[in-house]
Amino acid sequence: MSQIDKCFNIEDFRALAKKRLPRMIFDYLDGGSDDEITLGRNRSSFAKYQLMPRALVDVGSVDLSTTILGQKIDLPILLAPTGQTRMFHHSGEGAALRSAAKANSIYALSSLSSISIEEAAAASTGPKWFQIYVWRDREIIKEFMARCRKNNYQALCLTVDLPVHGNREKDLRNGLTFPASLTARTMMDVLRHPAWLYHYLTGEKIELGNLAGSSTVKLPDDGNLMDYVAKQFDPAVDWNDAAWMIEQWGGPFLIKGIVNAEDARCAVDIGASGIIISNHGGRQLDFMPPPIEVLPQIVKAVAGRAEILIDSGVRRGSDVIKALALGADAVMIGRPYLYALAAGGEAGVNRMFGLLRAELARDMALLGCTKISDLNPDFIHYPR
Ligand code: GLV
Repeated sequence: MSQIDKCFNIEDFRALAKKRLPRMIFDYLDGGSDDEITLGRNRSSFAKYQLMPRALVDVGSVDLSTTILGQKIDLPILLAPTGQTRMFHHSGEGAALRSAAKANSIYALSSLSSISIEEAAAASTGPKWFQIYVWRDREIIKEFMARCRKNNYQALCLTVDLPVHGNREKDLRNGLTFPASLTARTMMDVLRHPAWLYHYLTGEKIELGNLAGSSTVKLPDDGNLMDYVAKQFDPAVDWNDAAWMIEQWGGPFLIKGIVNAEDARCAVDIGASGIIISNHGGRQLDFMPPPIEVLPQIVKAVAGRAEILIDSGVRRGSDVIKALALGADAVMIGRPYLYALAAGGEAGVNRMFGLLRAELARDMALLGCTKISDLNPDFIHYPR
């Protein structure tokens, strides 16, 4: 029995990822901002909602399929954009892309991915979205959009909760840099993880794939990519810039990182077709509310004019049920698939999809609900 076959839930993958990764890489993946209050509440808030089953329903066949922005998928769990994925496993984004396609789900490629828009398209013909920030240089945005169009990306997803980087103190303490530099300080850490170090040293250099292949971007000679990226994130971005992007793209467009119902209304007013309620996995502003708690008010504000997804804290099939019952159309997961990837590469992510699918199907049957579209707030019980 391989190590990943002994993983039966996301927490098991997390424990295995912790063993396989150097501490600084694991902490970057696992950690949150400031006191990590939001990070913790993203998980604990799901426990506040109880599930209220219906008895004696014929659950002989449970259908987990649904449609998101016109794309039919086999389960309402999508892979969220995560930067520099090859840091967690040498098979990186390619493995996650193939696994998402195999599960017939959607993969969202980060602008800060370690492979390019074109390489991701070559890795899988499955449905793909591209995540974007508002770069100071608007020509970069136009170039990314043209490349996405050419490579059949179905939707664009603008992240709005990162005007500046959150304060991740674990990364500061660990001396983490991008690309990870092997200094005397980090050497002891990586030497304890020889398999990771071997692939790091012998594999392709981990780059920002979309920038390295760009005709617009002029990368700095000193190789300090993150300084360049930080300068390119425009903190002066406002709704007019988002509206400009929606108009430039002209296709399905999601805004990711909203927790405020008024912002959700603004997003719909400027033409967003989807909203991703997210606090960036507790990695940005600490004390942002957990998405599941603000979901009902956002559902009300949006009033069916856009599709709604949530991420941040989803670890179980029952979490997916709670989110969908309260009005989300689907969920996205970030850390869960990165833990599985770090634990076992593509086979790890395949197993994770299998486990989550089985959990979701089992819990739907136990709930007495056979179709995603039948989930509704009556399945949620609030303790008095
Ligand atoms: C980047 O988006 C991060 O959360 O590290």
